[in-house]
Amino acid sequence: MYEILEKQALNKDVDLMVVDAPFVAKNAMPGHFLIIRVDDEGERIPLTIVENTETTVTIIYQKLGYSTNLLGTLEVGDFLNDVVGPLGKASHIRDKKHILGVAGGVGAAPLFPQLKEYARQGVNVDLVIGARSKEHLILLDKYKEFCTNIFICTDDGSVGTKGYVTTKLKELLSVKNDYDHSIVIGPLIMMKNTVALIKEFNLSADVSLNPIMIDGTGMCGNCRVSINNKTYFACVDGPDFDSEGINFEELMTRQDYYKKEEHICNLKLVK
Ligand code: NAD
Ligand code: FES
Repeated sequence: MYEILEKQALNKDVDLMVVDAPFVAKNAMPGHFLIIRVDDEGERIPLTIVENTETTVTIIYQKLGYSTNLLGTLEVGDFLNDVVGPLGKASHIRDKKHILGVAGGVGAAPLFPQLKEYARQGVNVDLVIGARSKEHLILLDKYKEFCTNIFICTDDGSVGTKGYVTTKLKELLSVKNDYDHSIVIGPLIMMKNTVALIKEFNLSADVSLNPIMIDGTGMCGNCRVSINNKTYFACVDGPDFDSEGINFEELMTRQDYYKKEEHICNLKLVK
């Protein structure tokens, strides 16, 4: 059993947990994820390993549906039923000098270990971080520990530039584009639009994809992704991919497949 050692609310929708999971922790590298189950009959929830020590893993989750809300009811001293990992491929750390990270909302969590690893290897890293409002910005203090410049934007203008990350990026890249690579992580529509914009400035981009996953080991086919008309599985070939040729439209359609079932499950929460 996997004990919850720390729990922190990052905002009203998003929590951070530190979990005792030595076998996962000691093998985890930036870009890896894990799959948890809250109880014996629970849904399998894939989450990025945001940080790890020799014995613990840090996860961040948004309380969106039944299972993540159930996870949110657990407290320090409670136990998770299963923690499986590390899963996926570790991030491909490229030979670059100046990287721009772009985080949309909860995407700041999966971006964090990758950008931190680049900084650890001596790469100069900047960050554009966007969220709905000031209180939805997460991990800012931790990013400040290694980012040279941080550009903040919020949809409602409560802090930083008013608008989406694409508004800030257009402004930034028009006056200062000495970046040699970028990493873009957030909701699918954000990654699609951001990658398209970044391409106009001749900048390459990696993204992290989070399609529906079941087994996390390449067996069920649920997490398939089309890239340049070839099929990949996000759980074993990713979750990080070069953004070139990703079929975002297909991913967005597939993400809505279980909306009806999710709605039925969520009704249990309000009963
Ligand atoms: P959100 O809807 O609040 O958006 C976060 C930010 O993304 C916005 O503030 C804006 O800057 C940008 N954005 C949103 N729509 C945009 C658009 N049309 N064009 C350009 N930029 C746009 O996001 P949230 O509620 O924090 O995140 C929820 C979503 O993120 C879920 O769908 C979840 O699946 C996804 N997510 C993805 C990953 C991943 O690894 N890719 C990880 C965690 C969550
Ligand atoms: Fe089943 Fe990837 S989650 S193949």
